[in-house]
Amino acid sequence: MLIALCSVKGSPGVTTLAVALTMTWPHAESTRRLVAEVDPSGGDLAMRFGLPATPGLVSLAAAARRTRDPAVVWDHTQALPSGARVLVAPPGGTHARAALSTLATAPDGPLLPAVASDGDVVVFADCGRVDPGSPAEAIARRADALVLVTGTQGADLAHTAARLGELARWTPRSGLLLTGDGYPTVDVERELGVPAIGRLPHDPVTAATLTGHRQPLARRRGTNGGLARHAAALARTLAEPASPTASPPATMPAGVPGVPAQQVRRPGGVLISPPGLGPYPVSAPPHEIGPRHNGHQPSIAGKEPLA
Ligand SMILES: Nc1ncnc2c1ncn2[C@@H]1O[C@H](COP(=O)(O)OP(=O)(O)OP(=O)(O)O)[C@@H](O)[C@H]1O
Ligand SMILES: [Mg+2]
Repeated sequence: MLIALCSVKGSPGVTTLAVALTMTWPHAESTRRLVAEVDPSGGDLAMRFGLPATPGLVSLAAAARRTRDPAVVWDHTQALPSGARVLVAPPGGTHARAALSTLATAPDGPLLPAVASDGDVVVFADCGRVDPGSPAEAIARRADALVLVTGTQGADLAHTAARLGELARWTPRSGLLLTGDGYPTVDVERELGVPAIGRLPHDPVTAATLTGHRQPLARRRGTNGGLARHAAALARTLAEPASPTASPPATMPAGVPGVPAQQVRRPGGVLISPPGLGPYPVSAPPHEIGPRHNGHQPSIAGKEPLA
């Protein structure tokens, strides 16, 4: 299974979510899980987990010129502490974009979808911000499902509204995942005209753990907070066979302690299908809620702006 994770503005937590999904994926012990950093603006995970830059996306792109065997992908991955594998991209967009373009324009398609077609493999393609013309689009379009992650401030939603309809048509299943503080979920859904598949709470401690900055989650007490739990619920939803009418799993949490009910949506089975997506009327935003911040700060180390 290939799952594309992407954003359209800011740094709403796509990479963090990718790592979280590898850790919470159902039957993880019997599934080969891979985070593929196919973000054209560059990768973060090598730096965050103290891994070398090679092997990774650049070495894979070079190897892909010599062989079209999808198994070669694994030779260019490294181990994450969770047991999942990671295909790291170099920091900075120049080399990442070039390698990605090489992979994506291969005559018989990028190798990642072929790897992900194995029944016991799940690949989380961290596509980063999918601006028009992104070389990651070729990979995202071949995914089984796409999750668009967005913050919930007005500017986030305006950008999301502008791309939502297009992105929802890239894959057979797609979902809108909200993050951070901002407009209440019900207002966002109403304005965007689609249900969200969930809302990740602002949870900097767990996020830092997931991105390698602190000791592993299992060793920390009291950090089994909203982010890990919501990622686990989302993982269950994504792992389910596609069904537009799937109902939320019975094991879903009823709420997130400390978070107002209207800001919490259970990642419950609704992966939106293309028809019926409407534009977001940015001229009439719903009422503001505080605090006015984006939930978390973007990671800019090593990043170059997209062209
Ligand atoms: N749910 C969350 N709560 C609090 N902080 C978070 C959350 N998710 C991510 N973060 C933090 O926000 C920062 C950005 O996260 P991350 O790198 O995952 O975003 P991204 O969307 O991949 O950004 P970019 O597009 O720049 O690669 C990191 O410092 C991360 O620890
Ligand atoms: Mg990222």
